[in-house]
Amino acid sequence: MPAMKIAAGPPLLPHLPIDRSSGIPIHRQIYEGFRRAILSGLLRPAQRVPSTRTLALELEVSRLPVLTAYDQLLHEGYLQGRVGSGTYVSAALPDDLLRSPPPPGAGTRSGVPRRGTRPPPRAREEGGLRPFRVSLPALDQFPHAVWARLIARHAHGLTHAQMAYGDPAGLVPLRLAIAEHLRTARAVRCEAEQVLIVSGSQAALRLASAVLLARGDRVAVEEPGYPGGRAALRAGGAELVSVPVDDEGLDVAALRMLGARVRAAYVTPSHQYPLGASMSVARRLALLDWAFRRGAWLLEDDYDSEYRYVSRPLGALQGMDAHERVIYIGTFSKVLFPAIRVGYVVVPPSLWERFIEARESLDLFSPTLYQLALAEFVREGHFARHLRRMRGVYLGRREALLTGLARHCRDDLTIHNADAGLHVAMRLSGGLRDVAVVRRMAARGLTATALSTCYAGTTRRNGLLLGFGGSTERRLLEATGILGDVLRDSASRS
Ligand SMILES: Cc1ncc(COP(=O)(O)O)c(C=O)c1O
Repeated sequence: MPAMKIAAGPPLLPHLPIDRSSGIPIHRQIYEGFRRAILSGLLRPAQRVPSTRTLALELEVSRLPVLTAYDQLLHEGYLQGRVGSGTYVSAALPDDLLRSPPPPGAGTRSGVPRRGTRPPPRAREEGGLRPFRVSLPALDQFPHAVWARLIARHAHGLTHAQMAYGDPAGLVPLRLAIAEHLRTARAVRCEAEQVLIVSGSQAALRLASAVLLARGDRVAVEEPGYPGGRAALRAGGAELVSVPVDDEGLDVAALRMLGARVRAAYVTPSHQYPLGASMSVARRLALLDWAFRRGAWLLEDDYDSEYRYVSRPLGALQGMDAHERVIYIGTFSKVLFPAIRVGYVVVPPSLWERFIEARESLDLFSPTLYQLALAEFVREGHFARHLRRMRGVYLGRREALLTGLARHCRDDLTIHNADAGLHVAMRLSGGLRDVAVVRRMAARGLTATALSTCYAGTTRRNGLLLGFGGSTERRLLEATGILGDVLRDSASRS
């Protein structure tokens, strides 16, 4: 049997439904199929089409009708041949062709343009890499060479087993490495058997909602709080109830007043997002007591607790929990880089099977290559070294930001908390509206998060969250100068 030739592109069979019983010659059916697909935009200008030989094999017809159809399409200008490089849909279709009525079922009705002139989709900007972008770590300081070496090593050595379906819990060496890190650095009480790898904190919250909540259950969330966390919980089916935070974190007395339908509370005790408080020991104990008495769950988001500048970090809430009420959530987005999309959940043993089942139903498992490289990154000591080095880098960046703010923005801003993490929260003075200030900042090449957008209720404070992790000290100093201009300009308009 002759070897089958592979088409130079996706098969065209869906566009060319050959009907041998129709009485219409095969070459005509092929011609019409191409014409329809081109005019409706399903085949785009400059897109390569298969060779006549390949298409004949695909359609299981002789080559003659294909040659006849291609001849006519070339002649009429629908296709063009490039010597030595195959046949393509014409890059410039004649206008009179485009004026011809679209064939039935084609055209813009389904949102597909008649011509392939549609520009590629625009990427969402998200403030990119501009100064003050919140949640961005020091990407310029990441040990790229080491990471690239580990990725390359594992990509070259991927076994068939590693290319096949993986364990929904995650790769064992990575789970072991994370458990060890959490026990020593965060006082989390855990074994690797409890560590579940997911694609970030958002995914962890979706998972937790799926496992822990029934229809009508409520989740208490911090006010102000992390909009991304709220969105994930809401998407997971939770009904949210806001609980205020103060300088000690979530107000547990207010939480206690809520009804029995509150089945869980989502908290950021190490570094409250966005205001920055570290939850006091008394509050932690009260919160754990609430969860124990109610049989409720605590979703602890420990997103950037590695970096504290003022006092020694408290351990995780999970480590103080004697009754297995805490679901601990961590991420590599801040300590390495967000695009890695690796996070983890420390699951109480009693919930493990249910979490695994839900995780499998979500997206099966996380990409194996990144897990292999990351496990080795931790095992070889690069992770610990990077964390140590970053503490110094962030200390310098934080200092630059505070110095710049004191120099350029002293009258317009009151710093709320700058003890930890990668951003500083501040209030705006003089009745300035934060959303308008952020808009003006964007026009001057800066980005920031408006504090008011972190509130779910109608009572909102106006302020700014300024990230300092992702910019050099020099850029931060320059950017605070621009921010000073923006604030003065805003004050003069208001
Ligand atoms: C409070 C909080 N949790 C979690 C995250 C993000 O985590 P991930 O990238 O793992 O979804 C962020 C990012 O800004 C955050 O502010």
